[in-house]
Amino acid sequence: MAKSYVWLDGRFIDSEKAVVPISTHSLQYGSGIFEGIRAYSTAKGPAVFRLKEHAARFIRTAKIAGMQLGCSQKELEEAILEIVEKNKLASCYIRPFGFYNDPRIGLDTEGKKISVAVIAVPFGNYFGDKDKGITCKISSMRRINSQILPPQAKLSGNYATSVMASKEAKNSGAEEAIMLSTNGWVAEGPGENLFLVEENKLLTPSKESDILLGITRDSVLKIAESIGITVEERLVHREELLTADELFFSGTAAEITPIVSVDKVRIGKGKPGPITKIIQERFTEIVSGKDPEFAHWLTFTKQ
Ligand SMILES: Cc1ncc(COP(=O)(O)O)c(C=O)c1O
Repeated sequence: MAKSYVWLDGRFIDSEKAVVPISTHSLQYGSGIFEGIRAYSTAKGPAVFRLKEHAARFIRTAKIAGMQLGCSQKELEEAILEIVEKNKLASCYIRPFGFYNDPRIGLDTEGKKISVAVIAVPFGNYFGDKDKGITCKISSMRRINSQILPPQAKLSGNYATSVMASKEAKNSGAEEAIMLSTNGWVAEGPGENLFLVEENKLLTPSKESDILLGITRDSVLKIAESIGITVEERLVHREELLTADELFFSGTAAEITPIVSVDKVRIGKGKPGPITKIIQERFTEIVSGKDPEFAHWLTFTKQ
């Protein structure tokens, strides 16, 4: 297998040597922070999708988590581009990770070293077949809210509920979970935002539903605006999921993934619907560098 590298605190190191002790603070207590970013293959070489927005969110997450990172947004952006180049990747997933790189037992973070790592790995479809659509289950796990954990931050510990919700969905035979907020409003998937289609209009849970305001969600809003599709952002009742004409997830990993059933109830015709397909196709054109209107969302590597 070709040698691969990890960017760690400003240096490239062999992936096999990028290991930490089992007792590392962020491994034990979920005190790390992360981002999820994709790069895509285009005719002009690999390009990172919405680099600035992802790097900015990482910096915001650090601020929310009270972590003083030893790198700036600009340095992080450079590291993200360089790790794709160094590992000679094209379509891939990039994961910046900030963590307390300290093996001492104890919750206290005072004086504990903070490291930033960036890894990049080849990546295809997150869900088996995103053209066919997936089945979902409404989870018994509720989406976190700001009184417990910060929904706008990608803090590792936030994802314990997401991991459990996904597991529960899979154990019950569905492919992914849909989580409600603690007030019972439709929120999002464990790592995806959610869109409904109602009479050719898009509807998506608003910020008050404790969702992460995803970057792909924002891309869908802008694509819809460009095509002339109306979007409503508001609180969504769970039964609206069942009566929607179409449903789909958006996310860096999920991209645009149609949802064909919820709790075994067929959504629309039980297959990806026309509006979902229009958004999905436009998104694919954009990320593969074939759409001049949204070309500014791509940052090319030097490969
Ligand atoms: C909880 C949650 N919701 C939604 C998303 C989708 O966000 P984005 O489109 O920025 O990847 C993610 C992934 O980052 C997530 O973790």
